Amino acid sequence: MLNGKRILIGIGGGIAVYRVAELARLLIKAGAEVRCVMTKSARAFVTPLTFEALTGNKVHTELFDLTSEREMGHIQLARWADAVVIAPATANILARLSYGIADDLLTTMMQVNEAPVLLAPAMNSSMWESDATRHNVETLKARGFSFVGPEQGQLACGEQGIGRLSEPEDIVAALQPLLWEEQALKGKQWVINAGPTVEAWDAVRLLTNRASGKLGALLASTATAMGAEVTLIAGPGTPSTHPQVKRINVESADEMLAACTKSASNADTFIATAAVSDFRFHEMYTEKMKRGSTTSMHVELIANPDIVAHIANMERRPSHVIAFAAESSNHIEYAKVKLSQKNVDAIVANDVNNMGSHSASGWWITPSCETTIDTDTKQAFAEEIIQHIMELNP
Ligand SMILES: Cc1cc2nc3c(=O)[nH]c(=O)nc-3n(C[C@H](O)[C@H](O)[C@H](O)COP(=O)(O)O)c2cc1C
Repeated sequence: MLNGKRILIGIGGGIAVYRVAELARLLIKAGAEVRCVMTKSARAFVTPLTFEALTGNKVHTELFDLTSEREMGHIQLARWADAVVIAPATANILARLSYGIADDLLTTMMQVNEAPVLLAPAMNSSMWESDATRHNVETLKARGFSFVGPEQGQLACGEQGIGRLSEPEDIVAALQPLLWEEQALKGKQWVINAGPTVEAWDAVRLLTNRASGKLGALLASTATAMGAEVTLIAGPGTPSTHPQVKRINVESADEMLAACTKSASNADTFIATAAVSDFRFHEMYTEKMKRGSTTSMHVELIANPDIVAHIANMERRPSHVIAFAAESSNHIEYAKVKLSQKNVDAIVANDVNNMGSHSASGWWITPSCETTIDTDTKQAFAEEIIQHIMELNP
């Protein structure tokens, strides 16, 4: 999808600038033409030479430079781009964009820009959580800017918390839905569940799994960018999505079942990507259980409801119900059994190793066909799945 697209990277003055070099490289590798605009502060961290060497294009830095303005000034730069990604989007850039301040090349160009914009913020947690930044982020989201990250983790200042620049692969994945031009899913109502579920045993102990919710989030963002109205029922940790996705956060399988049942009764398509815990604790405790002196313990688990089978057998069921089957062996064989048992229209079989990783591939299986989906990123996997769903009979 990025092949031949013109991507402008706006580079702000944060310590994460060095990771944007990898972003530029990934975009070039995907076939995009890349130009960079660096703020004065960004150039204090890394010289433009790095980005010139990677992109093969001159880096744009000055607003008041006659030669640059003649060659490709702020107006032409904005008109050139199919999409803009700003990384790292500093607290300062978020503030200037929010208030329409145009005091350097990047922010002046942004006043002219009409292409979709993805902001990848990175900063210290206190800066991210400050009232001013919160306000600016809300303003920008309401104005239609998309965000990716920031993520939790070790920050450059040595502190732990929210504020890390998203992984370059995740920024590329978040950029792709913004480039969908067709409105192929206009008027469609999709419900997608994603992520793990969490079953509490006591006040602190939980039963959960390694699912990241990435694929469900990518399906939701991509379908939204293609014009669908999407509701995402999201288990804990599911990444952020396109701002127009309606998100309902849940924890347990029971909560997920209730939210899915309510939303799916009006939907055309239900996609079950969530890794719903098969079991929950028979007894739950509100206090923290003491270890005491016991050396072993038996805990009774009871089966959780089968959400996708429940939706597929509802009286007013969506026209298309798609299940996922993560298996460690005999993928196609097991998926075919599930297809008939659960009354679903298609199954995406994939390997358990896809869980939590950036890559994904698998098989699309319906009662009449069996196709390999041979992709190397979750975004490409999501796009192929959407293509297959669009080809199902109405
Ligand atoms: C060592 C150092 C690291 C910095 N890291 C960040 C950062 O990660 N995020 C941020 O928003 N600001 C950071 N700043 C502050 C910005 O550089 C400063 O606000 C600057 O005005 C941003 O300019 P720009 O938004 O035009 O690029 C850092 C400053 C220094 C000195």
